[in-house]
Amino acid sequence: MVPSHREASPELQEAMDETAERINKTIEKLLPNNELPESELFKAMRYGCLNGGKRLRPLMVMESSKIFNVDPSCARKVAAALEIVHCYSLIHDDLPAMDNADKRRGKPTLHKKFDEATAILAGDALLTLAFEILSDPETHEDPRVRCSLISKLAQAAGGHGMCGGQMLDLLGEKQELDLGTISRLQRMKTGKLIAFACEAGAILGRASEPQHKALSNYAYDLGLAFQITDDILDVEGDELETGKDNGKDSEAGKSTFVSEMGIENAKARAEMLVNQAIRHLRIFDNRAKMLIELANYVLQRRA
Ligand code: IPE
Ligand code: IPE
Ligand code: MG
Ligand code: MG
Ligand code: MG
Repeated sequence: MVPSHREASPELQEAMDETAERINKTIEKLLPNNELPESELFKAMRYGCLNGGKRLRPLMVMESSKIFNVDPSCARKVAAALEIVHCYSLIHDDLPAMDNADKRRGKPTLHKKFDEATAILAGDALLTLAFEILSDPETHEDPRVRCSLISKLAQAAGGHGMCGGQMLDLLGEKQELDLGTISRLQRMKTGKLIAFACEAGAILGRASEPQHKALSNYAYDLGLAFQITDDILDVEGDELETGKDNGKDSEAGKSTFVSEMGIENAKARAEMLVNQAIRHLRIFDNRAKMLIELANYVLQRRA
């Protein structure tokens, strides 16, 4: 699909593994098991957050933070809050009323393992937990930084962000959308949370305006490329590697880059966007090396 130089380097693989391990520990601590009468809810929340996943958004938070020498333990809390929102979005995305998916991360989806009501509640509780984490003085000592993180994540996840994009995604099952609208919906449903991941470092590190802009431009292009490659994997991925059932998009009649322009053109578009994303990082020189590698990885990912 792409030249071999795009393969995940050992360094990137190591960073991905390390981030996944640490973020799992952080989420474990934030979501302890308990013996309360409502413990089923907490079991479901843990099931939805601690069963695999590439943890790419946390890696973006960690790597964008590194550029500005942010305390990693601070960045990790923000990364966990974002990953928790992402996990909630997947739980609700899989519900029968939405994508009606049976498999996620190689396991039964949450509503299959538990039930629909529990899946709805687990999603709601995870979303609110994320904001509890961001508002905690232990996450960052400066209330202005905390407020800025809360406000940006709320914008990214809400009606003008992920939820709005999901609404358009459902609309795209009933009517054919043009490419402009599909780009907008994908930038909202997927790109906005990815943009928050990359901008989190700039907020925590009190970056200059041009630095902040460079990271948000990078994420703007990478977010769309990421969803295009997700749509490509829905057609030609290996279910053992993606951990999801193939063909869900065409089955639901969704409007995607693949349905509109065909798989080869969609691959070319993703590659063009990744190259464009990487160019925005020039101002950081070597400090953004891992973010560049991560962008290249998005093109050749198999999961
Ligand atoms: C899947 O996201 C949903 C999209 C927004 C495309 P990921 O591909 O990052 O899923 P996990 O977290 O690795 O399972
Ligand atoms: C989901 O997009 C984006 C979200 C906001 C959760 P998809 O519906 O394509 O994601 P998958 O393929 O189920 O992971
Ligand atoms: Mg969906
Ligand atoms: Mg889905
Ligand atoms: Mg998909």
